[in-house]
Amino acid sequence: MLVELQNISKTFGRVRANQDISLKFEGGHIYAILGENGAGKSTLMKIMSGYQSADRGQIVVDGQALDLKAPTDAIAHGIGMLYQDPLDFPPFTILENFIAGRPGGIFPDRAAARQQLAAITERFGFGLDPNRYVDTLTIGERQQLEIVRLLSLNVRVLVLDEPTTGISAEQKTILFNVLKALARDDRMAIILVSHKLEDVIELCDLAYVLRRGRFVGEKTVPCPISELVALMFGKVVERQNRPNVMCGDSVLTVEAVRIAAQRLTVENVSLRVCSSEVIGLAGLDGSGQGEFIRACAGLFPPQSGTIKLNGRSMTRASYHDFSQAGVAFLPAGRMEEGLIKGMTLTEHFALTQRSPRPWINWFEARQITAERIKNFNVKGRPGSPIQTLSGGNQQRFALSLLRQNLKVLLLEHPTRGLDVESANTIWEQLLKRREQGTAIIFISAELDEIVSYSDRILVFFGGRATMVDDPAEMTADRLGELIGGRE
Ligand SMILES: Nc1ncnc2c1ncn2[C@@H]1O[C@H](COP(=O)(O)OP(=O)(O)O)[C@@H](O)[C@H]1O
Ligand SMILES: [Mg+2]
Repeated sequence: MLVELQNISKTFGRVRANQDISLKFEGGHIYAILGENGAGKSTLMKIMSGYQSADRGQIVVDGQALDLKAPTDAIAHGIGMLYQDPLDFPPFTILENFIAGRPGGIFPDRAAARQQLAAITERFGFGLDPNRYVDTLTIGERQQLEIVRLLSLNVRVLVLDEPTTGISAEQKTILFNVLKALARDDRMAIILVSHKLEDVIELCDLAYVLRRGRFVGEKTVPCPISELVALMFGKVVERQNRPNVMCGDSVLTVEAVRIAAQRLTVENVSLRVCSSEVIGLAGLDGSGQGEFIRACAGLFPPQSGTIKLNGRSMTRASYHDFSQAGVAFLPAGRMEEGLIKGMTLTEHFALTQRSPRPWINWFEARQITAERIKNFNVKGRPGSPIQTLSGGNQQRFALSLLRQNLKVLLLEHPTRGLDVESANTIWEQLLKRREQGTAIIFISAELDEIVSYSDRILVFFGGRATMVDDPAEMTADRLGELIGGRE
């Protein structure tokens, strides 16, 4: 079986999720679709499995172009997908769920279905009890059930979107063994969508890498990790010359912090930042940089180690205390953590003001909001609900809300998803603050952004961090090794 994606493009509003992507998948192989969050992996695979339609391009199976209107169409042509966000499961038993998924409605023979279910689960050592209710299953067990269901529908191509997120190490071992067997013995094409290099290296034989909606290259696996990283993160560009700001007093001092998060522990990370310094945090998503930056904002208290601001201990202080002390944090999920859907720009402005009076002067709030809109080049009006603005405008507006003379500004993916022009405007604003003495710490998945703007780079891998003191001396290979772990 040969599946070809030809020139697939898909946009969501102004976001180009997939741009002219062409890929091939053959039976007997395990492929990786690799890329950082937001690269367009899920979109591409949803198109291939009939869950979403492409704006342009086609899906060709064994020379025949398909017209997929729904996942059931794709399954009929042998393509099945396990989605990243588990679909809602009705309160069925495993057996009922297994039966209900069949085309043409109810399987006529429950006993036969039970037998088939038992046969497949036994072959793979899944141990699914047909009488258990689906809503009591772990994510790993639901995955197993979905694989069994798709196999019983005779799919020849199995797509798994970030399947190792949220499952145990044992379940992962079982899963990977199953996938290897399906490729080797059943000659199926397996496609693993992932941003985790270690999973890709362990399982796959060919990696297709996406970056910002485009296909940027393929690698036969195994290969040096740094080569995969270089594709995922882009090239290291020449560092632009920019005014060197003299490093002032040390404002933030983090010493040997340990942060226990759900999936990893940040261990023994230290950082001393002085005023006007820009520190870039690099690393694959989930390497600890998100926890670290939240610890610096007072959102994630460390288990041990110390955090000081201007010499004052803040180790177990609250977000409010950090904010009082001049620290601001702009998270990546603007709509989830930063801005509030349904509220207008003026209301956002009013909410962020600390006024001695218990009431809000709406007239004044509208006026100042209009001023900020103008100064920060935001396309929107004081009365616009925030969600009606494009990503770049939301980000610029969020920046405009930050008060002046901050000691430390913490930013997570400040320009993710933005066009070059918007990204440049954001950095102009940030560098102005730097000139005024604000220290900036930011996370980015764009190596050129990290190298261009950082005075120093802290690279995270598996919860540990390595300091790069001179970004100008950094080569793509060296950064790749640090980001991808050396072994
Ligand atoms: N249904 C949607 N509506 C609007 N934007 C979307 C939608 N799905 C994905 N996007 C956007 O498309 C881009 C690619 O997303 P996605 O394919 O989920 O990436 P990945 O799976 O690689 O993390 C992102 O910028 C994302 O915000
Ligand atoms: Mg995804």
